[in-house]
Amino acid sequence: MTRPAAGAPLSRVDGWLKVTGQAAYAAEHDAHGAVRDVAHGVIVTSTTGRGRINGIDTRGAGALPGVLTVISHLNAPKLPYQPFRGMPDPAAGGGERLRVFQDDRVRFFGQPVAVVVAETLEVARHAAALVRIGYDGEPPATDLAFPAGPPNKQENYQRGDVETALRQAHTRLTQTYRLPREQHHPMETHATIAHWNGDRLTLWDKTQNVLNTRADLAAVFGIPPESIRVISPFVGGAFGSALRAWPHVTIAALAARQVRRPVKVVLTREQMFTGTGHRPVTDYTLTLAAGQDGRLTAAVHDISAATSTYEDYRESLTVQGRMLYATSNVRQTYRSIPLDIGTPTYMRGPGAATAAFAIECAMDELAHELGIDPIDLRLRNEPGRDPSTGAPFSTRRLGECLRIGSRTVGWDDRDPEPRSARDGNWLLGTGVAVASYHTLRAPAQALARLDADGNAIVQCATSDMGPGTYTSMTQVAADALGLPMAGVRFQLGDSTMPQSPPHGGSLTMASVGSAVQDTCDKLRLQAIRLAVEDPGSPLHGVSASDVAVENGRLHLRDNPERGETYRQLLARAGLSHLETPGGYTPGDEVERFSTHAYGAVFAQVAVDESLGLVRIRRVLGVYDAGRIINPKLAESQAIGGMAGGIGMALLEHAVTDPRDGRIVNANLADYLVPVNADVPDVNAIYLRGDDRTADPIGVKGLGEVVIVGVAPAIANAVFHATGRRIRSLPITIEALL
Ligand code: MOS
Repeated sequence: MTRPAAGAPLSRVDGWLKVTGQAAYAAEHDAHGAVRDVAHGVIVTSTTGRGRINGIDTRGAGALPGVLTVISHLNAPKLPYQPFRGMPDPAAGGGERLRVFQDDRVRFFGQPVAVVVAETLEVARHAAALVRIGYDGEPPATDLAFPAGPPNKQENYQRGDVETALRQAHTRLTQTYRLPREQHHPMETHATIAHWNGDRLTLWDKTQNVLNTRADLAAVFGIPPESIRVISPFVGGAFGSALRAWPHVTIAALAARQVRRPVKVVLTREQMFTGTGHRPVTDYTLTLAAGQDGRLTAAVHDISAATSTYEDYRESLTVQGRMLYATSNVRQTYRSIPLDIGTPTYMRGPGAATAAFAIECAMDELAHELGIDPIDLRLRNEPGRDPSTGAPFSTRRLGECLRIGSRTVGWDDRDPEPRSARDGNWLLGTGVAVASYHTLRAPAQALARLDADGNAIVQCATSDMGPGTYTSMTQVAADALGLPMAGVRFQLGDSTMPQSPPHGGSLTMASVGSAVQDTCDKLRLQAIRLAVEDPGSPLHGVSASDVAVENGRLHLRDNPERGETYRQLLARAGLSHLETPGGYTPGDEVERFSTHAYGAVFAQVAVDESLGLVRIRRVLGVYDAGRIINPKLAESQAIGGMAGGIGMALLEHAVTDPRDGRIVNANLADYLVPVNADVPDVNAIYLRGDDRTADPIGVKGLGEVVIVGVAPAIANAVFHATGRRIRSLPITIEALL
């Protein structure tokens, strides 16, 4: 038997394209020859946080040689902007997306207010700097305490009798945990090249969802989705920022239509701070009540998170509070607070990473107060069934994650007393936190084709923002087709391909992977049937179920000598190829079962006693994520997620100037993210297993869960080291002094 590709720690099949510069990213398709005669658009953004534009002077810009046009609300055509709901819907709570250049209103600092189109990028940038815009500005509301409008509708949840449980509790604790605004900042900035051919539009775009971009732009321009093609074969990171089509995509298309030429728009790093969403500022007030034995008797979650004035963005902030621990009495409120900011959006572990910071820090505080070991406290509150629905867990091995992690880091040797361990001037601490993320699945389709040369091409309009979709899908396809990895080419990132859900929410492997498997199973069976029905085949007349395919050769399971290759089969049949569509439609499993990925995160920190400097010594995550298709990719995902968690804990904070709504640190020198020296010893252990209830290929999703729980594990380690509870991220030197 040849070894299956799935489960093997294979390197990326597209790795060599990336390291040799042959992978075309969104802004590079002209250089790669896909489109010619491209003009450059540079966006001018508002320098006031709220108000109206009272004048635009484009004379200086227009006088520069090479400038083709300057477009603003003064001369832009009215665009249809038909109602549009994306998936996921960033305005799930209501409202409508920003309409570019349709009126004089300024809704946030950094809003696009004009675009300069020129022959070269240099001229366009120079001209953009010469555009003079006057404003009637007002002070913007950028703080949760000063909403820009009436608070949005509150989401409520309740079970049990919270008041009685609170009254009767042995121990009660109430704290507020705060997350700042965080920015995605993938290496590749967002970019779009737009090209009209008559009334047909081609977009080379950075996106996690070509079909969403197509549908969104179709609604903006009031044209059929079929007349738009979105191409996005490579994405240089995204973390959620590319789940929707932001205004610059419309601007590129609008500008291209106006100048009758392809137009490329690349956001600057500074524009990425206001142009492509962010993780919203969130205040999370949590009350936990428990008996002397540590069993939770009540939990009250009061959550406020920022949104914009024009869209009510909401994320999964309430999931864990309902299901993570056994508690009969739970109350939750979630208010989104409209502010004069651009709409926030999904950012890695959206909602879950934020909620886990509050819940897992509070659990640590409770453990300390009760004198119970933090791991033990969690194990005492392990539910047998999902406490929010009563449904059984498809799989839940959180206890195992905690025990394995505890053994691996030597938890039992830890003196629970804060400030009890030191290394010279460094105070040492170890903390733990739990991670979870709900398993999402969505309908997906794929197409598989076996060519006369015996190689296969498999397609789906999904994306690969970095997790290795190209590779993992090739593994699934190779196994199902009985081909070596080199015999399969997986293609993605084109809206003409079969339908895919968004490449986000950790649902790609579960959904697209299941679709690829179904499609390739069908194609293999089609070939087998062709053989057994063909009098010329050595397999003629045998039962199809007795035939296996390995290395591109069909053979009798009991007698491998008897068989033939795909090539021989297709040649004799005179076929240029065999082709079949397939797909995956999720059933009601997630209603009948509680499906989540889990993890236990351990952090070891050293805190300089005099300087307040926090250094990570080690982060270990132990995950129950179902089946692992590629351990190497999974480990990369975990390291990246944990590095993101280190950023949340210690570094990331987009600071808003309350006077005008400006992001003060809108560059990568001042918006800090972890560098190698901040990420010394980071490891992930995945429990072996699978979850065939969650989806046909047994995965539970692992891209999101690996950032969840990291920040609270670090905050809890800082408490253990210093005795200081820092409940507002990031944990800075100033906070510790
Ligand atoms: Mo992830 S926040 O769904 O890209």
